[in-house]
Amino acid sequence: MATIRLGDVAPDFTVDSSMGMINLYDYLGDSWGILFSHPADFTPVCTTELGTAAKFKDEFDKRNVKMLALSVDSAASHAEWIKDINEVQNTEVNFPILADEDHKVSDLYDMIHPNANNTLTVRSVFIIAPDKTVKLILTYPASTGRNFYELVRVIDSLQLTAYHKVATPANWKNGDDVVVSPAIKTEDAKKIFTKGVEEIKPYLRMTPQPNI
Ligand code: BEZ
Repeated sequence: MATIRLGDVAPDFTVDSSMGMINLYDYLGDSWGILFSHPADFTPVCTTELGTAAKFKDEFDKRNVKMLALSVDSAASHAEWIKDINEVQNTEVNFPILADEDHKVSDLYDMIHPNANNTLTVRSVFIIAPDKTVKLILTYPASTGRNFYELVRVIDSLQLTAYHKVATPANWKNGDDVVVSPAIKTEDAKKIFTKGVEEIKPYLRMTPQPNI
């Protein structure tokens, strides 16, 4: 099984889902993508995650990010479970849940960690850029639901740093000052970042977020 690492091209696949057959590359088009697995349908933490994901769809849409969930259950099972999620989470699941019964995608993306569970996917997250390269990989155990505020925050960082020569410091959130990329000399940074550059150390230069 191939290991997917940051910068690798996300493997393409075609698989059934709660919204019919999905080809990853066709589905993503020129958008960013977030592919996230969960262990199983009709489980409590997953129900809260999928409901929360649905409520965050507007935030992902604003950032041009298409959502794709996955578990190793069938499309028919997903359809039944979605009714429960909509009811108890007071939402409408409005993105596809891949039905990876034969583990095709789970194996491709190494989402089953046998020492955690032999058959169920862990809570993996892959964020894929428009050029189809993998920009972020996260892995959570079944017992820990993900924080969707963090997923949105990290997408803001990935998109900012993809288009500007900056990096985001610890606990950064959209609107905070950012770090000037170490590859840029301070004299050049002062020309590029017209809102100002503060040199705290020669290697630590801060500037207001350039795209707001
Ligand atoms: C859950 O979603 O609640 C869950 C799923 C598998 C194992 C543990 C928890």
